[in-house]
Amino acid sequence: MDLNRYVELLRRRRITVVVLALAGLLAAAALTLTSVPAQTASTRLYFSVAEPGTVAELNEGSAYTTSQMSSYAEIATSPIVLDRVAEDIGPRTTSEELAGAVAASIPEGTAIVEITATADDAATAANIANAVARHLSATVSELGSDGTDGAGAMRATVIAEAEAPEGAASPPLIRNMVLGLLVGLVLGIGVAVLREVLETRIRDGEDVSTLTDLPVLGVLEHDRSVATRPVFAQDERPSGVTESVRRLRTNLQLVHRADPPRSILLTSAVAGEGKTTTAVNLAVSLAETADRVLLVDADLREPAVARHLGIRGDEGLADVLEGRADPDEVVKRCPGTTLDVMPGGLTDRPTELLASPAMVALMEAMSSQYDVVVLDGPPVAPRRRRRAAERGRRRNVAGRRRRCGAAAAAASGARDA
Ligand SMILES: Nc1ncnc2c1ncn2[C@@H]1O[C@H](COP(=O)(O)OP(=O)(O)O)[C@@H](O)[C@H]1O
Ligand SMILES: [Mg+2]
Repeated sequence: MDLNRYVELLRRRRITVVVLALAGLLAAAALTLTSVPAQTASTRLYFSVAEPGTVAELNEGSAYTTSQMSSYAEIATSPIVLDRVAEDIGPRTTSEELAGAVAASIPEGTAIVEITATADDAATAANIANAVARHLSATVSELGSDGTDGAGAMRATVIAEAEAPEGAASPPLIRNMVLGLLVGLVLGIGVAVLREVLETRIRDGEDVSTLTDLPVLGVLEHDRSVATRPVFAQDERPSGVTESVRRLRTNLQLVHRADPPRSILLTSAVAGEGKTTTAVNLAVSLAETADRVLLVDADLREPAVARHLGIRGDEGLADVLEGRADPDEVVKRCPGTTLDVMPGGLTDRPTELLASPAMVALMEAMSSQYDVVVLDGPPVAPRRRRRAAERGRRRNVAGRRRRCGAAAAAASGARDA
């Protein structure tokens, strides 16, 4: 695939790509907003002997304090402290919950206890840490006091209050959304390419060229006005489809300039793919440049040529093949053109008639009588599948344009055969 094909692929699959990219973006936003990270806050307490006397007592007190440090850290996370903190924080907080949210540590070789609290928001974390510090301090002096003169009692001093960290760790929403968008985009392109690889539909002339060695003689684009104006080949102000049909006519005449095609059969895989529309307009267009052109409705199951051209179609090919009429009797002139038309007519054995020797004989006779015979053929797929395709066609009008191109290519194949 070259670059143009990729661009065309992305244009065609843009909904898949856009939907997945947006899904990535929204998923990233939702995940970021719902996963608010826990906030932490810390406070530090310095421990000392309350009222040391002499230098010796001071030294002793210091050694005593150091030996007690791990006990103080232990007390900080014990119910004796946490029960009181829970009371302070609020009725919905229990000391068991707090035990999981509070940690106490002793920086190596110091008489300091660092209390760290974790909560959903920074302010609560700071509140918890400060409450623990307060109650630890109170508990330590209660425990250390021997009730006499206060000597030997321990004192804990808060040296750094916990503060709610400002603008702390707010989730990187924009960055995550950009990442989500990119991931979604890559996923979307991946899915688009995968769907393209698994795609079995023929979309354009290039697909036809890839799959067959037939030349593409023309591509009829999709045009809404075709539904109301099925015959457009002679339009004064030519639209895209009119131009396409003229190009198809010219290409058909040019491919075998020395021996131009005498009969052209149009067919396609299933019904509703633009065979009749293409056949009618090609025939009208050919009649502008060739003297004698005959259009035969050979789709005897669903004859539609007469309806497209607005002429009577109750008698036609079927009547000739079943011996009820001569060709001259059923051929009609298409008004405003030099085109002769043989409608389909009615029969209950369409396949049999088309395969009959009478059909071969008729074709030989008509080919000598006319410069070009255009046949609007039946689709190649069985009827059961055609019905399903017809339903699909009504649902998916947009797909028609490319299939019209396929019909034109099939026309060239029929001619080559
Ligand atoms: N180039 C086109 N652009 C838009 N609609 C089209 C085009 N060609 C055919 N159609 C529409 O597709 C439908 C089927 O066309 P038709 O020629 O009857 O197909 P088929 O003969 O293969 O069954 C019709 O409604 C017709 O108006
Ligand atoms: Mg048809």
